[in-house]
Parts: sequence; C-alpha cells; structure tokens
Amino acid sequence: IDLFIPMDATAVALGADEVVEAIQLAAKKAKADIRIVRTGSRGLFWLEPLVEVATPEGRIGYGPVTPEDVEGLFAASFLQGGAHKLRIGKPEDQPYLKKQQRVTFARCGITDPVSIPDYLAHGGYRGLKNAFGMERADIVKAVTESGLRGRGGAGFPTGIKWQTVLKAEADQKYIVCNADEGDSGTFADRMIMEGDPFLLIEGMTIAGLAVGASKGYIYIRSEYPHAFAQMNRAITAAKLAGYLGENIQGSGKAFHLETRLGAGAYICGEETSLLDSLEGKRGMVRAKPPLPAIKGLFGKPTIINNLLSFAAVPTILDQGAEYYRDFGMGRSRGTMPLQLAGNIKYGGLIELAFGVTLREVIEEFGGGTLSGRPIKAIQVGGPLGSYLPYSLIDTQIDYEAMAAAGGMLGHGGIVVFDDTVDMGAQARFAMEFCAVESCGKCTPCRIGSTRGVEVIDRILAGTDRQKNLNLLNDLCDTMRDGSLCALGGLTHMPVQSAVKHFGADFNRPPGAST
Ligand code: NAI
Ligand code: SF4
Repeated sequence: IDLFIPMDATAVALGADEVVEAIQLAAKKAKADIRIVRTGSRGLFWLEPLVEVATPEGRIGYGPVTPEDVEGLFAASFLQGGAHKLRIGKPEDQPYLKKQQRVTFARCGITDPVSIPDYLAHGGYRGLKNAFGMERADIVKAVTESGLRGRGGAGFPTGIKWQTVLKAEADQKYIVCNADEGDSGTFADRMIMEGDPFLLIEGMTIAGLAVGASKGYIYIRSEYPHAFAQMNRAITAAKLAGYLGENIQGSGKAFHLETRLGAGAYICGEETSLLDSLEGKRGMVRAKPPLPAIKGLFGKPTIINNLLSFAAVPTILDQGAEYYRDFGMGRSRGTMPLQLAGNIKYGGLIELAFGVTLREVIEEFGGGTLSGRPIKAIQVGGPLGSYLPYSLIDTQIDYEAMAAAGGMLGHGGIVVFDDTVDMGAQARFAMEFCAVESCGKCTPCRIGSTRGVEVIDRILAGTDRQKNLNLLNDLCDTMRDGSLCALGGLTHMPVQSAVKHFGADFNRPPGAST
C-alpha cells in the first residue's frame, strides 16, 4: 500500500517526520506492507501534515495528522481509505484545489520529487524534448509569444531578456536561477524545489539550449536547507538518468547545473548582488548598465531569472505559447502562483490565471482572518510592497491593475493583517528593514533609511508631527528617485502607503492601542 506524506518544509515543521515514524511503527505492528513516498506539499497548509493513501478509488487524504492520531487511523482502516474524522476524501476535490488553475504546480504534492520515472510519467521532459528539435531563436520566440513576464517581481518580458542573451556574442554564457526567495510571505520557489525540482532543471536546461549556455547555477537562500538538499538530490538523479551533463539524451547538447547556498542577506536576491555573491564576493549591487544579459556572471552574458519564470517554461515548450498566453488578462499572461499568509484562516499556495481579485483569493480561498477579526491591511509583493486598505480588496491581481491601485504584485506574496495591527509600527519596520538590509552602496538608502527610522520615531512620539510627516515624505521621494536598486527605491511604498491609508495610526498618543 502506497502512502504519500510531504517532506516539504512546512509539513516537516508541522510534524510530518514524526507522523512518518509513527506510521512506520504502527504498520510494523499491524504487519501491514506499506511504502511511504515523501512528496512535496499540495499547498493546503492548514491540512499539513496531510497523509494520502492510494486506494482503488484514488488517493484519499487525511489531515492534519499528528503522531497521536496514527493509532486511531489504523483502527479506522485508513490504509483502505476508511472513515475517520480527519478523512478529507480526494485532495483534488477540495474546493481550494479544484478552483485553481494549476499549471506550474500541476505535479507538486503528487509525484515523488526525486524520481525521474515519476516525472516522465506525469508529462515531465516533454518541453525539453520539443526544444531539442527547435532552432535557438524559435525557443526564444515561443517564450516571447507566451507573454511570460519575470515572476521575481519586476515583470520584465522573459523572452526579451532571453533574446538579449541569445544575440550577445561570447565564448561562454550562463543560466542563473534566483531562488533567494527573500520576500515576506513567499514560499512558491521553495515548494517547487522541494516538490517538483525537475521542473526547474528542465526549465533551466531549455534556457541553456535557447541561448547556447552550457552551465547553470541555482542560488538558493540559506534559510532553505530542505530545498537545498532536495535540489542536490534531484540534480544527481537527473545526471544519472542522462538529463544533465554532456550529450543530454543523445542530443549532442550539454548542460551542467550546480547549486549554491545563499549568503543570508536580503540584498543577495537583487540580481547583480546575487551575481557578486555567486562569484565569491560580498553581495553588493552593481550599477546597470551593463545588464546581466550582456555582462553578467564572471562578466559573461547571463540569463538570470526567478525560479518561477524558469518553472513556467517547460509548459510553454510542451503545450505551446498560445496555451500559456490564453490564461490571464491584458499584459499579464499565464498563471501566477499566489502565496497567502499572515493572519489568514486557510493559508497556502493558490495558482490562478491573472485577473482574479484580492477578495476572491483572501475571502473565498483564504476564508478571511484566522483571528476572525476584520481585515485592516493587505501587503502584496513582499516587505517593499504597499499596504493596501480593505477598501481596495476588489483590486485585480495583474501587474498593471496592482500598480494603478498604488501597489505591486512582486513575487505574489499576500500577507493579511487584522484590525489589531499598528500601521505606524509597520511603517517603522519597513524603514528599519531597509536600514538593516542596505548593501551600503548608495547614500539615499544607506543613510536615508536610518534617518527615516528616526523621523518615524519622532512622528509616533508626537514630536512636531506635521513637520516630520512632511520630512518623511520628502525623504521617501528622495530614496525612490536616488537609490541604485529596488531596496532603497521601493521602501517608500510600504511607508507612504501606511501614512496615506492609515493616517490615524500616525496620530495617536504614544502607547495608545490601535
Ligand atoms: P528591473 O526593472 O531593473 O529589471 C527587471 C529585469 O529585467 C532584470 O533582470 C533586468 O536585468 C532585466 N532587463 C531590463 N532590461 C533588459 C533588456 N533590455 N534586456 C534584457 N534584460 C533586461 O528590476 P529589478 O531591480 O531586477 O527587480 C525589482 C523587483 O524585484 C521589484 O519589483 C520587486 O518586486 C522584486 N523583488 C523580489 C524579491 C523576491 O524575493 N522575489 C525580493 C525583493 C524585490
Ligand atoms: Fe545598496 Fe540600498 Fe543602494 Fe540598493 S538602494 S544599491 S541596497 S544602498
């Protein structure tokens, strides 16, 4: 009897390893012949650890399971799909999953993440196979026509980036994956590395074929030890099966891939800083131009993309550019893996075509706040994203619509706050975050952020409030216009949006509750 239990870091944090041990012991006692496959997570985090059992009617889920539940589960014949209070039926029938459009995450939580045969059995490597028979320019054209935009946050058209690298003349080019997923409330990159790592390997290999790059690196944030280990296992499996290395599957093409563990700094998620870090230096932001596409890793033309951008590519090469482009709205094409976190009842991974509203995601999928209190603020796009008030909850999730509402989609992280949040403290946190994480290269960010914390402290203490609010506004504008990269350049977003939408939190007697 096959059982499927995630080894995803969220599930492990919630006790999945202990549940595995308890099930193994109980099975031994019951003389039951079981095989446990450690999968990724389906992304329904409130059900983790979710245990699935293969039965004649399909996979039946039980969750959230604790080691203490195991005895009762065996007594209820759960290995045959028996009734139990934790039985949820088929996971794919859960409305949370059923209502999604899973493209990038189609396999996550279902397959054995490090089994090439399982990957192949679920449609894996079909995109690469097609790419073998295509001219470089046609691969790039397919990516361009799919409308795919960079999923790291900036939304730059991926095909145009690849075209720049394709056209660059060089003896060596590189493919670099930015998996330094530093945004608060985001975990999609991690879930792919832990739950479907071959998808990333396939996407990067296709990128290598497209621009003539034979070497790639995955830069993984140091806080992701499980993902790092899993990615290394997958790379070894892909090499052994002839999907990485020289002469991949007899195609005559070579692609070599290695992982690197990040340096533990938020700024190493900024692409030029990441490249410095990969080269073994301290991660400092480089001035652009030259773009990494022209002069990137070790001074060579480099495709550097977010993990989710590479992970969308196998589908495009397999199903065609049109298939992918048909999801979405306006200039935002395809699907976006949204990550729902914070004060939310049903947090997790929700992949949907662009165009869905924040309300649908937060209320229909998320079920509102965990505390049951009213929503006060929603931060979309990481620590540098704006705080949106509840009145903007009908904003559509699309790069342009978010920008029109004064926000940004970023990497798709959505963090929800209830009415107990103190937005003055949140604005201070944003400014302090910038001060702590600044690489120090440019003055508006290095010095501005530290002065900014002091100014916010004066506002919150009630000292010359209006004068200091004006000063804060000027400072934010200066940081926005004068910073070299997005860290200093976007800190104004959480700060100014907090002041704009939640003015009362900046005008309370010090120490008063919200
Ligand atoms: P950017 O707008 O400078 O560049 C976007 C991308 O397009 C870069 O890779 C750049 O090299 C490339 N590019 C621009 N013109 C090009 C051309 N003609 N040919 C080829 N490539 C070209 O944005 P940046 O500074 O790289 O990223 C800022 C974004 O990062 C923010 O919007 C924010 O949402 C996001 N972010 C994401 C985080 C995460 O954890 N994923 C963390 C922090 C910020
Ligand atoms: Fe470094 Fe901040 Fe300037 Fe970016 S804005 S280059 S993090 S000092």
